[in-house]
Amino acid sequence: MKVIGIESTAHTFGIGVIDEKFNVLADERTHYTPKEGIIPLEASQFHEKNASGLLKKIEDKINLKEINLIGLSSGPGLPPCLYHGLKFAKELSKRLGKPLIGVNHCQAHIEIGKILTKLKSPVTLYVSGGNTQIIYENKGYKILGETQDIGIGNAIDKLGRTAGLSFPAGPKIEKIAGKGKFVMLPYSVKGMDLNFSGILSESIRRLEKGESKENIFYSFQEVCFAMLTEITERAIAATEKKELLLVGGVAQNNRLQEMLRIMCKDRGAKFDVVPKEFAGDNGTMIAMTALVNYKSKKLGEIEIKSNWRVDNI
Ligand code: ATP
Ligand code: FE2
Repeated sequence: MKVIGIESTAHTFGIGVIDEKFNVLADERTHYTPKEGIIPLEASQFHEKNASGLLKKIEDKINLKEINLIGLSSGPGLPPCLYHGLKFAKELSKRLGKPLIGVNHCQAHIEIGKILTKLKSPVTLYVSGGNTQIIYENKGYKILGETQDIGIGNAIDKLGRTAGLSFPAGPKIEKIAGKGKFVMLPYSVKGMDLNFSGILSESIRRLEKGESKENIFYSFQEVCFAMLTEITERAIAATEKKELLLVGGVAQNNRLQEMLRIMCKDRGAKFDVVPKEFAGDNGTMIAMTALVNYKSKKLGEIEIKSNWRVDNI
């Protein structure tokens, strides 16, 4: 059995192919990189322009006649990008005469993490551009805590933009932060939830006043990641789980990984991170989740859902 997955919810257009044992047979991606924030229509036009070229690259490796199932990331995401993805996936399904199933993008970040790390029943910290959630599974996905305003990745990207860094700013901020010293910035945990907009405005204000970007970036990471570690520790304590899984684009950050690893060691919990090449958006995670859901007969409807929450699958 071969499954193809299509990702087109935001900045990335990705296609991945796996076999029935979840081996990755092909993975191709293109990224729309805006100068300012993402303009949804521009992103979808970028995907439309690049989609058939990307599929050709896949066809160089895979005979599409061997595909048995097609998965599409049908939400959450930017509506123009989701609509383009749906059109592309429906055409492919018609051309190949194979079924198409809708997959939740957040579930896909979690499932690829579980499959590639082999963790069995983890608490998952999902940190990406648009999402920041602490999740565990108990008759479906339950959200134990989350951001009340913006995702941590978007906060990092906005901070970077103020300092003239291009999108995505995460890896660049991480590098510059290595040379900084700690200055106090607002820490905001509300029960199991978090806020990033306060620390973001304060950091931008101080950068504009001429404070050292090394110090602001370092301290922004320290404070935000400490907030994430605090709620994650409480989630592990409350659920009595023995495993922590870190997923999403921001999971690539070494300092965040380090803080969580220390916390898990203190608690005797196992810690693992989705491999770097599959942390950000990709089609492979959609193919894997399509196969997981197909096996357990959780077939999604094929309609786009721009605000589809993981606790509402
Ligand atoms: P979502 O899953 O919410 O739809 P997304 O699709 O925007 O989010 P991903 O590709 O999962 O995003 O993640 C992209 C984010 O990861 C960007 O905000 C980027 O800055 C951030 N990121 C990437 N590498 C790092 C890093 N080393 N440190 C911090 N952040 C990082
Ligand atoms: Fe994502």
